[in-house]
Amino acid sequence: MILFIDTANLKEIEDAADWGYVKGCTTNPSLIAKEGLKQKDVIAKITTLIDGPISAEVTAEDYEGMIEQGKELFAIDPKHIVIKLPMTNAGLKAAKTFKELGIPTNVTLCFSAAQALLAMEAGATYVSPFLGRLDDNGWEAIKLIEDIVTMKMNYGYDTKIIAASIRNTEHVQQCALAGSDIATIPYGVLKKLIKHPLTDDGLEQFRVAAAKTAALGK
Ligand code: E4P
Repeated sequence: MILFIDTANLKEIEDAADWGYVKGCTTNPSLIAKEGLKQKDVIAKITTLIDGPISAEVTAEDYEGMIEQGKELFAIDPKHIVIKLPMTNAGLKAAKTFKELGIPTNVTLCFSAAQALLAMEAGATYVSPFLGRLDDNGWEAIKLIEDIVTMKMNYGYDTKIIAASIRNTEHVQQCALAGSDIATIPYGVLKKLIKHPLTDDGLEQFRVAAAKTAALGK
C-alpha cells in the first residue's frame, strides 16, 4: 500500500519526504487554512518537496467554477497536481470533464460504497473514503474499504482507493489488509508507524552488546 501524507504543513512534508517511504500528499481547505497562507503558494511549495501526486482541492461548488479553479491549480505543476473534487453531482461531472482533458482527479468526502461506485463510474483517478469521520460517528469504517476494494475488483475499475481521515496506526494496518491502494496519513500517525517497544528494547540490547565488544579494542 502506498503512503501519502495528509497535511499542508511544509515542515511535516519536508520531514516525511526525507524518510523515503511517503510518496504523495493530500490537502484540503481546512489543512490549508491552518497554515495561514494562500492555497496556490502552499501547493507550489509542496511540489518542490514531494515528487508524487499532490491533491489540491477546489472550493467552488458549481461545475463551471470547479473547472476554472481546477485548471488554475493544475497549471501550478502538471506533473504532480491532482484536482480534488467533492462528492456532489457537480464534482462528478467535473471529474468526467477533467478525465477528458487528461487531468487527474481525487473525489473526496466519500462515506459509502455507492458514492465510491459513482466516482469510479465518473472516471476519477482516485476516490477518498474517510475512515476516521465514520468511526467518530459509530459507523464501521474498515468494512467500507473492503466493500470498495471488492467493487473495484468486480468491475476492473482503474480508480485508485485512497483511505483518508486516518486517525491511528491500526487504521493504516487495517486498510493495508483490506487492500486499499493508498492511505493518506497525518504526520503524527505516520511518525508512529515505525515505533514498537520491542524494537526500542532490541536496539538498546544491541547497543550495550556492541559497546562491550568495542571495549575489547581492535
Ligand atoms: C483527505 O484527503 C482529507 O484531507 C483528510 O483525510 C480528512 O481527514 P479528517 O477527517 O481528519 O479531516
